[in-house]
Amino acid sequence: MTDLHPDIERILISEDDIQRRVAEIAAEIDRDYKDAGQVVLVGILKGAFIFTADLSRKLSVPHSVDFMSISSYGDTAESAGAVRLILDLRKPITDRHVIVVEDIVDTGHTMNYLHQTLMGRNPASLKICSLFKKNRDSLDVPLDYVGFDLPDVWVVGYGLDYADTHRTLPYIAELKKEVYS
Ligand code: IMP
Ligand code: MG
Repeated sequence: MTDLHPDIERILISEDDIQRRVAEIAAEIDRDYKDAGQVVLVGILKGAFIFTADLSRKLSVPHSVDFMSISSYGDTAESAGAVRLILDLRKPITDRHVIVVEDIVDTGHTMNYLHQTLMGRNPASLKICSLFKKNRDSLDVPLDYVGFDLPDVWVVGYGLDYADTHRTLPYIAELKKEVYS
């Protein structure tokens, strides 16, 4: 095993476990949408870009991929509270079957905002898929597909960052507390 980066406390979820779970989620979505026709995956940048790519390649249902970019944190691990739309979808989603693909839900503010915004565009259906969920007390947003529950620590890897670093680690790792607090 290669040495961990000095900012990393420990590995929480291995690359193999992530890939296995992504395949399971893809199989679930394939079953649920087998008669839906064309589906739209909405990946949430930047954190979900790797998950969106892996999920998309494992899906058999016909689908297109679009992206939105949302920001609720600055370059720290502190929530700034307000959610900002940085980049919108390229195409309308009216009457389309939409699946939001998110990296992680913590307080639920981001997902709450996304859910309200996208429902306002009258999709044929809207489901939410988040690979990770951190907070048991998060806002009451419906999560239709969840990969893993995580403890309340800052995690990086598989697309998730700390101040835009560590995104390309193939596993999910806990950051050392002294790095982010
Ligand atoms: P929420 O609005 O509090 O649910 O925060 C969700 C957003 O914060 C996610 O889309 C992530 O971008 C980011 N986030 C929350 N926790 C973590 C973490 O542990 N590592 C990296 N990003 C995180
Ligand atoms: Mg995010």
